[in-house]
Amino acid sequence: MNNLLKTYNFSNFEIVKGNGSYLYTADNKKLLDFSAGVAVNSLGYNHAVVKKTIQEQLKTGITHLSGSQIHLYKNKLSQLLSKESNKGDVFFSNSGAESIEAALKIARNFGSSKGRDEIIAMTSSFHGRTIGALSVGSNKAYKTDIGPVPGKVKFCKFNDSKNLKQLINKKTLAIIIEFIQGDGGINICSRDFAKTIKDICKKRKILLIADEIQGGIGRTGKVFAYKHYGVSPDIITSAKGLGSGIPIGATIVKKKIAKNISIGFHGSTFGGGMLQTRVAFNVLKTINKVGFLNNVKSKGLLLEKLLKKLNADNEVIKEVRIKGLMAGIEFKNDITALKVYKETSKNGLVTTLVKGNIIRITPPLIIQAEELKKGAKIISDCLNTIKI
Ligand SMILES: Cc1ncc(COP(=O)(O)O)c(C=O)c1O
Repeated sequence: MNNLLKTYNFSNFEIVKGNGSYLYTADNKKLLDFSAGVAVNSLGYNHAVVKKTIQEQLKTGITHLSGSQIHLYKNKLSQLLSKESNKGDVFFSNSGAESIEAALKIARNFGSSKGRDEIIAMTSSFHGRTIGALSVGSNKAYKTDIGPVPGKVKFCKFNDSKNLKQLINKKTLAIIIEFIQGDGGINICSRDFAKTIKDICKKRKILLIADEIQGGIGRTGKVFAYKHYGVSPDIITSAKGLGSGIPIGATIVKKKIAKNISIGFHGSTFGGGMLQTRVAFNVLKTINKVGFLNNVKSKGLLLEKLLKKLNADNEVIKEVRIKGLMAGIEFKNDITALKVYKETSKNGLVTTLVKGNIIRITPPLIIQAEELKKGAKIISDCLNTIKI
């Protein structure tokens, strides 16, 4: 029993501990985690680096310091994030949606000095649940009956260069995109579309905002997903995997924009705290270690092979889309997807269901090849046994 607000379809089992890519329930069931808390637990559970960092931080007697107070790991993490991305300056917050709020506010402020106030977002996009983040998310269901969300947002068909060109005008201030869409069903930006975005942004002096909250921090085999496309976003948002379970959000802003930001323009009570920046710094260092990302890439290729085989063997699957360790199995209908989701869950595999008909797979980045094979077999066995 609980008193939780029913914003989720809660699981009917209680989780008590985790280790590596596994979760354990109160009634002693071992679950293979193909979700990682929705792409958050990048280093899995009980990871030595995360554990040691938290223990070390506790020895200082401090977990939180205010936004204006400087400390070592806030400095170091800002430098590392900057070096790994657009060489910009970093604003720390606590979540994905907050990092988006900061990005939108900063971009709108930059645009207002140039008489620009329109943002172009994508269809199938998701950027968070706060009112500002919802304004650039395409899912109408998330915006119903809550009154107006900020306006002046146009939605471009994802991967449709012609549509993008039609929507651009002299009022356009920014384009916001997840290069690999997560909640929208794992949709992969095409090279052509990325090139169009890059060219338009350059020619029309439009800001590019890359939402790297789900696809970033090694998930697709590169530190940030946009790095597959040879673009250099003006603003980058990060969260989820950055703290590998410790809440943190970051908005990285190119110097040309950052220089206009004045003291008091934005803030966050918990943003940039000592505990979370120290953990995130060590998470990012771990992901950057020689071989780590190559390992993610090769495990991604293995997962791709396994899922493509499932697709070939099962009529009910429409398509498999994957980049690194971020995958979606799209079923021909919602009923089958729900059945497979429930049955695999009963058989010890944790996944997430998006858009009704897509099983999303975002395992911890430290998952082992054997565990990927085991998970794929659970899905395959379920497909063979359930009545569709
Ligand atoms: C691409 C993307 N942006 C933003 C968010 C919002 O992040 P949070 O739930 O931490 O606010 C999410 C969460 O799923 C996401 O996947």
